[in-house]
Amino acid sequence: MDIAIAGGTGVIGSHVVRVAQERGHAVRVLSRGAGVDVLAGVGLESALRGADAVIDVLSITTTDAKKAAEFFTRTTANLLAGQRQDGTGHHIALSIVGVDRAPYGYYAGKLAQEDAVTAGDVPWTILRATQFHDFAAQMHSRAAVGPLHLAVRMRTQPIDAGEVATRLVELAEHPAHGRARDIAGPREEELAEMMRAWARHHGHDGWMPRIGLPGAFGRAMRSGALLPQDDADLKGITFAEWLSAQPER
Ligand SMILES: NC(=O)c1ccc[n+]([C@@H]2O[C@H](COP(=O)([O-])OP(=O)(O)OC[C@H]3O[C@@H](n4cnc5c(N)ncnc54)[C@H](OP(=O)(O)O)[C@@H]3O)[C@@H](O)[C@H]2O)c1
Repeated sequence: MDIAIAGGTGVIGSHVVRVAQERGHAVRVLSRGAGVDVLAGVGLESALRGADAVIDVLSITTTDAKKAAEFFTRTTANLLAGQRQDGTGHHIALSIVGVDRAPYGYYAGKLAQEDAVTAGDVPWTILRATQFHDFAAQMHSRAAVGPLHLAVRMRTQPIDAGEVATRLVELAEHPAHGRARDIAGPREEELAEMMRAWARHHGHDGWMPRIGLPGAFGRAMRSGALLPQDDADLKGITFAEWLSAQPER
């Protein structure tokens, strides 16, 4: 198959590219670094021409609901328009377990993305995954006040991004499925402890106070609203196994 991967240079996107290539597919990467701006629609037409499926793993770093919704609805609309024009029959989008159970600006954007995909006329599949193990690293750099890094409390069941990538490529190899079964890692973890372990592994041994984020979203994070439900597929290695395989810095 020939698969277009929107966001193919990102955390999950680079795994999707690797897995698709390992499974013998031709891959085209849609990212600004690769000369395609999906939000502005620049370079999209030629990038999609002749592709059999599109896997959308684009992202934006924002907590602003309006900005997130604008990004995800416009990028989805641009991808679907390109696919419609070219007859690229299958659109696969990655979303997040619990986006509809926690009030958060970025999640409002993901819900808007899901709505745009399901309302569109291109056959679609949506997969919701829990946080990747790499989330500990992403949060370590985001939750910092000057030199002080905070350990943010959250009940999470993180997954190896490689497992999510494999599932996305498997879904692309099959006809459109609608909502796929949610996917999560093998066991529940406390994000604050994941962040501390990640920091120690990388030689940061400073004090990292545990904090709960304020407001309704902070309460949702701590209450388990973002944990998978009983019918989710549980896959892959634990966070500790993943971390021990990461190079120390
Ligand atoms: N991180 C998690 O724990 C997690 C868990 C579940 C689901 N997800 C979902 O997985 C998806 C990817 O997340 P991630 O953490 O892998 O994101 P990421 O590492 O921030 O990567 C984002 C990708 O989007 C590309 N991009 C951004 N704006 C673009 C534009 N205007 N045109 C073209 N490409 C653009 C970036 O490339 P350029 O900068 O070169 O354009 C990059 O390849 C998101 O939809 C997220 O909601 C994430």
